[in-house]
Formats: sequence, structure tokens, C-alpha cells
Amino acid sequence: MTQLRHPERLRAFIGALAELIDGNPRESDLLHRGGKLLSQLVSHDDWLPDAYTIPDPARYQQFLLHADSRQRFSIVSFVWGPGQSTPIHDHRVWGLIGMLRGAEYSQGFARSPDGRLEREGPAIRLEPGHVEALSPRSNDVHQVSNAFSDRVSISIHVYGANIGAVKRAVYEPDGTEKLFISGYSNAFLPNIWDLSKESKAP
Ligand code: FE2
Repeated sequence: MTQLRHPERLRAFIGALAELIDGNPRESDLLHRGGKLLSQLVSHDDWLPDAYTIPDPARYQQFLLHADSRQRFSIVSFVWGPGQSTPIHDHRVWGLIGMLRGAEYSQGFARSPDGRLEREGPAIRLEPGHVEALSPRSNDVHQVSNAFSDRVSISIHVYGANIGAVKRAVYEPDGTEKLFISGYSNAFLPNIWDLSKESKAP
């Protein structure tokens, strides 16, 4: 993968999403239209710089690619090593998950009357180009895992806040909740704003 071969794809996505949010859409419209934009972004696998694709043997990685200046949204690359998965967790803000490379399973959970968390329907398998939407009002609790035990998978997630700083929760299957602030795996962000090469192009 060439470094930043097509930085304009992420730049265009950020611009289009900010414009969409500027219009104060209802959450359902935002997820629908934002999902289409994200689907376009993840239908090409030629723009994510290598530094944000590197797995860690210990745990999945969450690299911040962009944070909106008003923290209205953030964009991250999730990098799954072979067989890696998240704990059961929530988000508390809207979310869009777009599959870029490989595949992943997202298993929804719902509280049963006795307080335990139970699987809600079958796991959704995301393939490259697919997008799943999450809403705090309907399907906020899930567990995500790499569909492959022998290769890396990467998905691009968009959330309605600076997700690494959001106070949210991870859960035990018995429903026990623990405070979770995810942070990010990287200290530096990709530079998608150097337009000199594009400006010099004929
Ligand atoms: Fe999640």
C-alpha cells in the first residue's frame, strides 16, 4: 500500500460529513446519508496510510484519523489482529462502521428482564464496502470481532463525538458495567492537508 496515495478520499469524506452535520439532520437521516458517504470511502482501499493499518499482537488498535474541530464527530481506523475482538461495550453516541479490508462480526446485545445481557439476533458480518449504523436509541451495545483467525481486518468508524474521550461502558455477560474511556492508539494524525502535489498536477 502506497503512503497516502489518495488522501483526497478522506478529505472529501470529512468535508461532506461536516456539511451534512451543519444542516442539523435528524439522527436517522444523518446515519442514512452519512452511511452512504462512508460506503463510498470504504469501497476504495487505497487511501489509508500504512501507519494506521498496523496490528498489535496484544489488542485491537484504534487509530484516530480525524477529529472535528468542534468534536461533533471523529473518524478512526480499527485494526484487528487475527482472532481479536472487543469486550461487549456501548458508545452513547451515533456511530457508523465501514469495512475497509478483511471482514468482521458485530454481535448486538440487549438486557433481559433479569439484567443479564443476551445476544440480540445473529451477528452481522461486514464485508469490504459494507456499512453498519449504531444508535444509542436502538442498538448501542455490541461486541465486534475479526472474522478471520489468520489475517488482519480493518474497519473505518465514525462517531458523533470525540469517541476516545467519551465516558461509556464495557459489560460482563451478567450485565455488570465498568467505566470505559477508550483513548487512541496513535499520538500523530495523518496529514491530508498538503495540497502541493495536487496543486502541481497538470
Ligand atoms: Fe463498537
